[in-house]
Amino acid sequence: MTASVLVLNGPNLNLLGTREPETYGRETLADIEAACTRRAEALGLAVTFRQSNAEGELVDWIQQARGTHDVLVVNAGAYTHTSVAILDALLACEVPVIEVHLSNIHRREDFRHHSYVSRAAVGMIAGLGGHGYELALEAAARMVETG
Ligand code: DQA
Repeated sequence: MTASVLVLNGPNLNLLGTREPETYGRETLADIEAACTRRAEALGLAVTFRQSNAEGELVDWIQQARGTHDVLVVNAGAYTHTSVAILDALLACEVPVIEVHLSNIHRREDFRHHSYVSRAAVGMIAGLGGHGYELALEAAARMVETG
């Protein structure tokens, strides 16, 4: 059976390409989705790619991932630093989580250094731009392979 990866993107990531390009680069979220789709195909994974600005919608999608997806790749945007609700959903869903950030959050303002998502994550990729998502898919493929 083909393993299934859900890639979730939080608030303001829909603005990629025009949003603070010196921090987040010129790639749009659609560019990143297309790269993920190609990489997932090469790795033999099915990938579902979503974005929401709403915390509750992200929580709903994480809840629904239980039993339907094998790995979650999560860039929760600013909710990374604020959302106990997203952390609790990630802990409850019993799906391995890989945290991704385009920017290196540890090089930035102090309030970005703490991540609630990290408490639920197997690992984190930060600072490598859109390529980080592809690296997360590689890690997901390895996780699924090795069980
Ligand atoms: C981000 C980092 C967060 O601090 C910020 O709020 C974002 C994007 C990143 O991908 O670098 O929205 O998650």
